[in-house]
Amino acid sequence: MHREEEDHFFNPRNVGDADEPSFAGRAASLSCGAHVRFSIQVDEAQRVSQARFRAVGCDALIAAASMLTEQVTGLTTAAAAGIGNGATSCAALARDALLDAIREYSNAARDDWAGDEALICTCFFVSERTIEREIKFRGLTTVAEVTRACNAGGGCGSCHQLIQEILATNDLPR
Ligand code: FES
Repeated sequence: MHREEEDHFFNPRNVGDADEPSFAGRAASLSCGAHVRFSIQVDEAQRVSQARFRAVGCDALIAAASMLTEQVTGLTTAAAAGIGNGATSCAALARDALLDAIREYSNAARDDWAGDEALICTCFFVSERTIEREIKFRGLTTVAEVTRACNAGGGCGSCHQLIQEILATNDLPR
């Protein structure tokens, strides 16, 4: 274990639950029985203003979750969703719980959205109309292509199903 991880294990930061209103996510490992709960508070600028965790598992998981709470605080939810991409095992478990919490936030923010155009990707603030325009203009057929074209879907992933549905609706004969 690196010195920084060791420090986070012996002195875990941000253990507990974020103040309400908060958004929570969970992840568990079937192989080792570890589980972690992440809760976040998001401010009006869509930045993580508070991040807390509770975990039962090995020292690497505690350290990874603790470090993650510090890394994501102050970031937008889109940037937070990209932190630790590609991490393995314990760090990935902590990240999965964080992503789950961000998805909960994104779904709630999408439902609450009262703008003129339907908001599909909360992370990158992309409307349904923009996505439709990109699909038609560029002849896009997959979620990955939509993400490359306009960022939609490039954060927490909670909008992937909706993007898929828009693709299906706009599946024009070529
Ligand atoms: S809402 Fe998070 S990636 Fe689209």
